[in-house]
This record gives sequence, C-alpha cells and structure tokens, in this order.
Amino acid sequence: MRPCPMYLCVCKAVREQEVLSLADLESGLRMRDLRERLGVCSECGKCGQRALDLLRTLGRNRSGVRVAPGSARLI
Ligand code: FES
Repeated sequence: MRPCPMYLCVCKAVREQEVLSLADLESGLRMRDLRERLGVCSECGKCGQRALDLLRTLGRNRSGVRVAPGSARLI
C-alpha cells in the first residue's frame, strides 16, 4: 500500500514533499518563493500558516536534518 501524499496546498495540489524537494535545491526559501514557483497560498490562503510552519521548521534544520512530510517533525 502506498502512503497517502500529504497536501500542503489543496487548491494548487502541492504536496509537502514538493516543498521539501525544492528546499533541497535551494536554501532560504520564503513564502514568496513557494507562491511564485508552486502557487502555494495563491488562492484561498488556507495553506498559509501550514506553509509558514514548514518553512520555519526547514529553517531551523538547515544542518541537514530532514523533516517528515505531513508532520513538520524531525525524522
Ligand atoms: S489551500 Fe493553498 S491556496 Fe487554498
């Protein structure tokens, strides 16, 4: 059974994994980057807080520690 993808932004069908993959390529991601590149928070805005939480968690863990998709917790 395949794991259910955790959507960060339902309106644009953006998965948390897509944000994590982008963060692997580029450090210092900001909300503006997520909006411009993936469309996160460009429709209803309900994903905004979750996206900010994810970015903050990524910012705290730039030392290479990964974040579990869907939980913003360390793995
Ligand atoms: S859930 Fe992301 S803009 Fe609506």
